[in-house]
Amino acid sequence: MMTNDKVTIESLDQEGRGIAHANGKVIFIEGALTGEVVSYASYRKKASFELAQMTELHRAASIRVEPKCVHFGVCGGCSMQHLDARVQVAVKQRILEDSLERIGRVKPENMLPAIYGQSWGYRERARISVKHVIKKGKTLVGFHEKRSSFVADMQHCEILVPRIAVLITPLAELIDGLSVRDRLPQIEVAAGEHVDVLVLRIMAPLTEEDEAALRAFADRHHVQFWLQPKGPETIVPFHPAEAPELSYSLPEFNIVMPFAPSEFTQVNSLLNRVMVSRAMRLLDPKPDERIVDFFCGLGNFTLPIARSGASVLGIEGSAALVGRARQNAGANGLSVDFAAMNLFEIDEARLASLGKSDKWLIDPPRDGALELVKSITPGIAPERIVYVSCNPATLARDAAELVQRGYVLKSAGVMNMFPQTSHVESIALFEKA
Ligand SMILES: C[S@@+](CC[C@H](N)C(=O)[O-])C[C@H]1O[C@@H](n2cnc3c(N)ncnc32)[C@H](O)[C@@H]1O
Repeated sequence: MMTNDKVTIESLDQEGRGIAHANGKVIFIEGALTGEVVSYASYRKKASFELAQMTELHRAASIRVEPKCVHFGVCGGCSMQHLDARVQVAVKQRILEDSLERIGRVKPENMLPAIYGQSWGYRERARISVKHVIKKGKTLVGFHEKRSSFVADMQHCEILVPRIAVLITPLAELIDGLSVRDRLPQIEVAAGEHVDVLVLRIMAPLTEEDEAALRAFADRHHVQFWLQPKGPETIVPFHPAEAPELSYSLPEFNIVMPFAPSEFTQVNSLLNRVMVSRAMRLLDPKPDERIVDFFCGLGNFTLPIARSGASVLGIEGSAALVGRARQNAGANGLSVDFAAMNLFEIDEARLASLGKSDKWLIDPPRDGALELVKSITPGIAPERIVYVSCNPATLARDAAELVQRGYVLKSAGVMNMFPQTSHVESIALFEKA
């Protein structure tokens, strides 16, 4: 890679890269911030743009801070640690506003104040890679390196919950001593309010010595080991065999949510509480209303809606999550209807068969909810829609569809669910004009 001349960074893109112009091209430069003068080396060159890495910082911006993590720049986990935490939120807010305007051609009547919580040690769910590296003579446990399939040589992680982060080196040493160290590619982390689970993907049987080592580790570090020999449906508890369940709680709604380590939950449970609270305020459910919660998962929003006394239907693609949601509703003394349905294949007729409702909550995966919003007909259109999004581009696209169907974007705002990373989580309120 050749280092190029100095450029001045004009703005930041959706992934937190600095944008500059040189030789008639747009240059996206990792590690550079707005207003900075930098040199860069390109690792990908196209006709109209280049992707590059900052090689030298000639003039630093005042928003630059010293990254907290020693692995920053190598580990692919975080890309915004060099940016002041409050500025990260402002950047994400601008990404949301830009996406709505550029992709959706919509502007919220009102921007909601950003929601944010702790900047470090928040991540309770993670998939960590494992690799025994003969050349290094050791086993690595960590996230992938930036733009690479190599596992980063990590000793610590600043965004994982601290009680899990401190286990990175002990886990690497444990796995290094197992007979299956070459056949154990991944650890799934699920940290709950009372117990923590580590699911080991194992592609070969454990020996008795392996099993003894795992048991001793689990007891010493107060974690549960679960094993996954094949697909996610094969996950089983290993030690302790009689293990208390994972759970998180929503105290404002007097709700406790048990979950299995393979089931989707939000990664940042403290911010999740604030997010659910905001969603409920925007939705404003009333006892005589009928509300549908689309992409409801294990009932994270469905159960708080039901607590208001409204009658609620939760729709979710995963049959296992629907089962979990039903169980959770019952355990929390709530009566809720749930149905399993592929919402990427929904059409007008199927949507109409769910009946008329007053309000919707939509919380889709990154791909958004285009088929759902396109299936809205005047007969079933709800008065109000609260849309929770993990991808501003698909939110903006779906917002344009909703506006075409007679909705107004009343308000929108970001929720910094993933500090230090470029992920933008947001919420938007639509009302019938
Ligand atoms: C962002 S999560 C939200 C879950 C839940 N609202 C929560 O807060 O925990 C998106 C959910 O959409 C579900 N999902 C993904 N694809 C789907 C599809 N094609 N049809 C219905 N649900 C789907 C996932 O299983 C997941 O539960």
